Amino acid sequence: MLKEKRPIIIDTDPGIDDAVALSIALNHPKLDVKLLTTVAGNVNAHKTTENTLKLVSFFDKQVPVAKGCDKPLLIQLEDSADIHGESGMDGYDFPEAIAKALDVHAVEAMKDCILKSTEPITLVPIAALTNIALLFSMYPETKQNIKEIVMMGGSLARGNTNTSAEFNTYVDPHAAQIVFQSGVPIVMVGLDVTSTAVLTKNEIEKIKEFGEVGNMFYSLFQHYRGGSLQTGLKMHDVCAIAYLTDPELFTVQETFIEIALDGPAAGATVADLKMKYHDTTNAVVCLDIDIPAFQQWVVLNLEKIN
Ligand code: RIB
Ligand code: CA
Repeated sequence: MLKEKRPIIIDTDPGIDDAVALSIALNHPKLDVKLLTTVAGNVNAHKTTENTLKLVSFFDKQVPVAKGCDKPLLIQLEDSADIHGESGMDGYDFPEAIAKALDVHAVEAMKDCILKSTEPITLVPIAALTNIALLFSMYPETKQNIKEIVMMGGSLARGNTNTSAEFNTYVDPHAAQIVFQSGVPIVMVGLDVTSTAVLTKNEIEKIKEFGEVGNMFYSLFQHYRGGSLQTGLKMHDVCAIAYLTDPELFTVQETFIEIALDGPAAGATVADLKMKYHDTTNAVVCLDIDIPAFQQWVVLNLEKIN
């Protein structure tokens, strides 16, 4: 008997690696995507919303999309158009989106979706945590009906912005602080793990053969600067989806995460891995991923869409 689908909300900033995550999540038999919310990050919130609507239309899915915050809570937006292109999804000429965004803010849409759900919702942020932080600050009652947060973000090792901070927590460290202090269970799939989760030429040549879906991703991958075709393209965000459907791909540990709010390491996620400074934990962090099994998982799930 097929297990009940897991109800999720994905908060996203497409972003080419977000596009891989959304494509698999929208089509996976284990997941019920109740709502997609967008936020400024890789590119501005207008573009991340447009890109999300284009993907929902491309896959002909009836999933609501709500636009969220245009900038981080306290600091200016620093985007990563250098990685994803000016549009955020350079390389493929998507048909105009048929879907339209809801006329309510993402935070309101999340609140309504969570409070109406008969089953606890899993939040899947794969971008800066601005919307999530505002949700918890404005509507703390929503925490009672959230199963957990499974996020791509943070890092237990080097950053990809300053030496220590991963992009999603770097963009809005204050929002990250609010979320990690919220008391809501968190699974952090960090940069140290996702940077090893690459698609090599071998997988990319297979994906190319998957009809229009394959052509779309092959075209996007020619423009994606998260890694390279020679060393492998880093599939950061889809790791959070892989954790939802196949958690056995990951090695994890419970710990306490603090967020550096300013200075040269602003946005860093500092883990008390030996629990020397804290009595309680606030996150499960991923330490490792089975790379060949992950690569096979991505190829298999993209092939199934086609
Ligand atoms: O550091 C990687 C993260 O930043 C991914 O979510 C990518 O899409 C960018 O947002
Ligand atoms: Ca992202």
